[in-house]
Amino acid sequence: MGYPELRLRRLRENPVLRNMLSETTVSLDQLIYPLFATEGTKISCPVSSMPGMGRLSVDLLVEEAARIFELGIKAVLLFGIPENKDEIGSSAWQENGAVQAAIREIKKLLPEMLVISDVCMCEYTNHGHCGILSGNAVDNDATLELLSRVAVSHARAGADIVAPSDMMDGRVGAIRRALDHESFSQVPILAYSAKYSSAFYGPFRDIAQSSPQFGDRSGYQMNPANRREALREVALDIEEGADMVMVKPALAYLDIIADVKNAFLYPVVAYNVSGEYAMVKAAASMNWIDERRTVWEIMTAIKRAGADLIITYHAPQVALWIREGVFHK
Ligand code: PBG
Repeated sequence: MGYPELRLRRLRENPVLRNMLSETTVSLDQLIYPLFATEGTKISCPVSSMPGMGRLSVDLLVEEAARIFELGIKAVLLFGIPENKDEIGSSAWQENGAVQAAIREIKKLLPEMLVISDVCMCEYTNHGHCGILSGNAVDNDATLELLSRVAVSHARAGADIVAPSDMMDGRVGAIRRALDHESFSQVPILAYSAKYSSAFYGPFRDIAQSSPQFGDRSGYQMNPANRREALREVALDIEEGADMVMVKPALAYLDIIADVKNAFLYPVVAYNVSGEYAMVKAAASMNWIDERRTVWEIMTAIKRAGADLIITYHAPQVALWIREGVFHK
């Protein structure tokens, strides 16, 4: 049967029916909001490339966490930006580091908030690479020991989930063993499995002050041209004990999200990264696009591709739109 007997528009004209037949919905339960912890008190450093975002000292960060919890966001992803950076990133595993303090304070004030901590070295090293250097390259195996220490320090502070984002080979296994050894066998690992070497991380590096001081990250992060390799990365992380896997960035990598969803029975998390956020904010501020409809379309597309959860800087705004009942209008 074809046109004129078949008319697909019949199911589109009525708005109630159209809404009922929507195959994909975006719920606040599936959004994770990133926050950036810095040392000191009463410090709020906005960053122009990420409107609405900034580095916050723990006292202000906890207030922000309380505000978004009240809006209905139940999960945060924490990054730490230390005052002192050194060759090996030794601030990363300090018991009283900014991120460890932020984890403790959020869990104290908001025990029901799910706290995920990013585990990486690039915010802590003075060269800005995600591990220890050997010459001009990152020494994979020497870095594993440090990442394990960082993950354990986060778990000790009360992190509900640890999320390694460094892209070293073997880090999921190393972190799993270290957590188990310290009696944190209940702490899940969200692995940044298919993390690409991407220009979309630019604004994040402004906020985290984590740009590499020489070279780039393409010796450890994935080549954007590669699709099948993402499945090998995910398979390896799962074999090493990852509980959830991530694809990052999201928008330019919807094919990867779909592939991972179809190939594995693990929850898939997509990171709608800083550059994706900044582009929307910039265009919306010029009135070149409608921000609400654009964000709805982006969130919906990422979910439609197969993401179970989305990490996004838009989360509080989405919560407000949902509360006002206008998000999907
Ligand atoms: C740390 C890390 C990065 C992001 C998350 N964790 C930056 C990078 O790899 O350079 C980027 C997130 C974003 O752009 O929003 N390795």
